[in-house]
Amino acid sequence: MTARSPRAMRRVRTVGALRRAIAAFRARGESVAFVPTMGAIHAGHLSLVRRARATSDRVVASIFVNPLQFGPREDFARYPRPVRRDRAQFAAAGVDLLWEPRVADVYPAGDRTRVRVAGLTDVLEGAVRPGHFEGVTTVVMRLLNAVRPDDLWLGQKDAQQAIVIERMCADLLVAVRVRRGATVREPDGLALSSRNAYLAPAERAQAVALSQGLASARTRLAAGERSARRLVGVIRRELAGYPLVHEDYVAVADAATLEPVRSVRGRVLVAVAARVGPARLIDNFEWRPR
Ligand code: PAJ
Repeated sequence: MTARSPRAMRRVRTVGALRRAIAAFRARGESVAFVPTMGAIHAGHLSLVRRARATSDRVVASIFVNPLQFGPREDFARYPRPVRRDRAQFAAAGVDLLWEPRVADVYPAGDRTRVRVAGLTDVLEGAVRPGHFEGVTTVVMRLLNAVRPDDLWLGQKDAQQAIVIERMCADLLVAVRVRRGATVREPDGLALSSRNAYLAPAERAQAVALSQGLASARTRLAAGERSARRLVGVIRRELAGYPLVHEDYVAVADAATLEPVRSVRGRVLVAVAARVGPARLIDNFEWRPR
């Protein structure tokens, strides 16, 4: 791998400029990793860049607040957009090429095409946010078609998103390796999220409920608990100690199909979603019995 200075990051907007820049990497025989984001960059995003850098010659990142994945009452308009800070963080982390498309670059005039992954998108986040995953898969398929990376890096923080995108890539024969990076957390356990910025201090203090509930469930799993009902109970009791935290769901699901399990036998996803003040927070961990 070549040494890269922070100033070496290029920025492009159009699909044409993006493709030309990537063609230049490919002409040199370089491998390409892709880290798609909606900006408001934090250490979670940067951990994906770091892993991408360690395993590929070139790192392409995108910043695009995708209108299609926000519901009509969700936070599209107020989603944070600290553009200059984001660029500086990506440059310092060693991103080679930053793609900042406009809506019309991703959704050309006359656009009619949507990508929908059935079943996996109706549960958990999909049940609470109808249409959300169709927005995600539709945009990610377009981003992948433009970038055509060898590796796509996604965070475990959004486990269902990763599972849905993995399914989409397998089903549509997309020639990409989908890779997951571990969830990056604040010192108290709160998973980093662009939406944490919405929390008032008292809400921020109580937001730790999600990771604490999950930690308790993990302890019980390690001690041999196999009942999903009891694990959910452990997490709910933890959440109940934080009056500013309002549960959307607590789930123990098969880690591949997302179907609820009664008893933990194979790989499971233990997931929590809750509203805390103006923010909706999610967290999870994957667990496999030894
Ligand atoms: P965004 O929320 O900006 O997240 C971009 C990537 O960073 C996702 O793969 C997400 O899982 C990962 N990520 C977020 N918080 C993380 C954390 N604390 N630790 C590790 N990784 C973390 O997810 C999206 O954007 C969009 O849905 C997108 C895939 C870009 C499509 O629009």
